Amino acid sequence: MKHYLNIKDLKNLQQTVKEAVQLKENELEFQDLGKGKTICLLFFNNSLRTRLSTQKAAQNLGLNPIVMNFGSEGWQLEFEDGVVMNQNKSEHVKEAAQVIAQYCDIVAIRAFASLTDKEKDLAEIVLSNFEKYAGIPVVNMESATGHPLQALADAITMEEFKVPHKPKVVLSWAPHPKALPQAVANSFVEMMQLQDADFVITHPEGYELDENITKNSKIEYNQEKAFENADFVYAKNWSNFNDYGKVLNEDENWMITADKMKLTNNGKFMHCLPVRRNVVVADEVIDSANSIVIQEANNRTYSAQIVLKKILENL
Ligand code: CP
Repeated sequence: MKHYLNIKDLKNLQQTVKEAVQLKENELEFQDLGKGKTICLLFFNNSLRTRLSTQKAAQNLGLNPIVMNFGSEGWQLEFEDGVVMNQNKSEHVKEAAQVIAQYCDIVAIRAFASLTDKEKDLAEIVLSNFEKYAGIPVVNMESATGHPLQALADAITMEEFKVPHKPKVVLSWAPHPKALPQAVANSFVEMMQLQDADFVITHPEGYELDENITKNSKIEYNQEKAFENADFVYAKNWSNFNDYGKVLNEDENWMITADKMKLTNNGKFMHCLPVRRNVVVADEVIDSANSIVIQEANNRTYSAQIVLKKILENL
C-alpha cells in the first residue's frame, strides 16, 4: 500500500482486520520493520487518541516518530497556486511538503474540515497537496471528509465482539452543541459498505450525509425503529452537510439512552471519543457493560500499526 487516505485503500478489509487482530496478540513481532525509518505526525488540530496510538503503533514497528503540532507551531501554509503571498501565510505547501519529506519516510496528517468552505473541504486541500508534493506515503489521521484509521479500529472492534449471525449495525446521529465534521460518520459508512451486515443510518430529516458516500445505504428517520434488534449502535454527531457546517438541530431526544438501548439485541454501544456525556450519550449507557468505547480506543493502535506495516512493506 502506498498511501492510506481512505478505508478503500485497503486491498481487503476483512483480511486486514484479521491481520490486525493477530498483530495485537504480539504487537512487537515486527519491531525491526521500521528500523532506521522515521514518520512525521503533523497535527493541524487537537487529538488525544490519534496522537498517542499512532505514535505507539510506529514505535511498535521500530519507526522513529516525530510529532509536530503544525496548527499551533508551524508556519501558516498557503495551498492556492499562483497567489501573491503578501498576507498572513508564510510558506507554500509546495516547499513545506517537500521539506518534510527530507526528514521522514512517511507523513501522517490530521487536518479537519473548515466547515465553512465546502468546495475546499471536499477537495481535501491539505491531504491532496501533501500527496502531490511530498513524494512519500501519506496517512490520513482525520481529514476534512474521512477518518479511515478510526473506521478500521471500529471494524477490528466489531470483529472482536462479533455475533453468531449477520449483524445489524446502526449509525445514529446524536445531538451536540458545536458544529462537528462528517469525517468519522463518512468513514464508518464506507467501512460498513464493505461488510456483510444489515446497516442502517438514522438521523433527523435534513441531516443527510454526502450521498456520494451513503449511496444505497439504508436511512431510517425514526431512531427508535432503527435501534430495534441492533447488535451495534455507533453514535456520532455531525453538522449539516447541505446547509454546510450548520447546527440546525440540538434535539436532546436524539441522545442515546438506556431505554433506547433496550430496543436493541443486547447491542454494544460504540463511539470514537471524545464524547460529551449526557448530551450525546447518557452516563448509564457509556458506563454500562455493553459500552465498548475503550476497546475501540485501544484498537486505534492496531489499526494504525497494520496500516503502517503495509506501507513499510511497500517502501
Ligand atoms: N477518535 C479520535 O480520533 O480521537 P482524537 O480526536 O482524540 O484523536
